Amino acid sequence: MPTKLLPPTEAGVAEAADILRAGGLVAFPTETVYGLGADARSEAAVARIFEAKGRPRFNPLIAHIPDLATAEAISRFSASALSLAKRFWPGPLTLVADRRDDIPAPVALLATAGLDTVGVRVPAHAIASALLRAFGGPVAAPSANLSGAVSPTTAAHVLDGLEGKIDAVIDGGPCAVGVESTILRIADSGEAHLLRPGGVPAEDIETELGRALLELSAGFTPSSPGQLESHYAPKAKLRLNAIEPHKHEAYISFGPHASGEWPCPTRTLSPTGDLSEAAVRLFSVLRELDALTPEDASIAVAPIPEIALGVAINDRLRRAAAPRPTCTEK
Ligand code: TXA
Ligand code: MG
Repeated sequence: MPTKLLPPTEAGVAEAADILRAGGLVAFPTETVYGLGADARSEAAVARIFEAKGRPRFNPLIAHIPDLATAEAISRFSASALSLAKRFWPGPLTLVADRRDDIPAPVALLATAGLDTVGVRVPAHAIASALLRAFGGPVAAPSANLSGAVSPTTAAHVLDGLEGKIDAVIDGGPCAVGVESTILRIADSGEAHLLRPGGVPAEDIETELGRALLELSAGFTPSSPGQLESHYAPKAKLRLNAIEPHKHEAYISFGPHASGEWPCPTRTLSPTGDLSEAAVRLFSVLRELDALTPEDASIAVAPIPEIALGVAINDRLRRAAAPRPTCTEK
């Protein structure tokens, strides 16, 4: 199918909402990365997301909704979850809550991989918000890339992987945050597990909750793609924490000291060492260097401080550097 490029206008959003209503797939900008949206209540529409992405079916999707009231219509929030939603929504935070069982199928079984929980998020991007309101229901949306590949932060990135496989993409320009949402599971007791570091720094969440976040405990299910070893992977190999590149390596630098003359292509995540800027640039820089380097080449990456958004950046880099699986996950 030809993929339509829609403008970030009222008409573009209205057309996108019509496509969603007809069971189609629309990629749309959020403040984190572009999402690949489908009607979260329709098993058939959600199935098309997995098909287009080549995504393993057992990975649940986030339901994107316009406001807290809609979140409460499909899931049950504990008091702590509620306080976080009030503090950080709209924004890059996904809360995994118990799905409501007193109403029939608030979201398709396929969207939550048959789990009793559902991940919900109210995005801050004006176009995402307009689309959710125009559509009037929850929109299931993973990042709009082929499964396992680098997440898209522009409409062009989306088309790189999904052109011809989805109905449309709304071009809303580059994403302002650049890494995906932080995902939390909060128990009724208030105990909070960090399932994926992301756009809201863990430190800010701990301040709001007044308690430390727990790392994912062994035995916690389900596994998220964010927990798959290899994810966000460019074709080239990555070598992390590299003070400088080896002779034949491309280089991703961070901070003011990195201005050497190296023979291979180099890019900086942030010349001033700003972690927010680095998060915004991370996925486009990975894509750019991946396109410039031969298949068996390697890309060295400077050390990134493990604080604030650096935690999410290092998480994505570690997964991008992990050995590739050979069968079920791509
Ligand atoms: O910023 C984001 O979160 C982007 C934009 C488009 O909103 N979306 C995104 O979706 O990153 P995706 O599918 O690439 O990653 C969603 C993560 C997965 O690791 C998935 O397993 C986890 O959320 N997840 C979703 N529902 C869950 C649930 N009920 N329990 C545990 N993990 C869940
Ligand atoms: Mg993803």
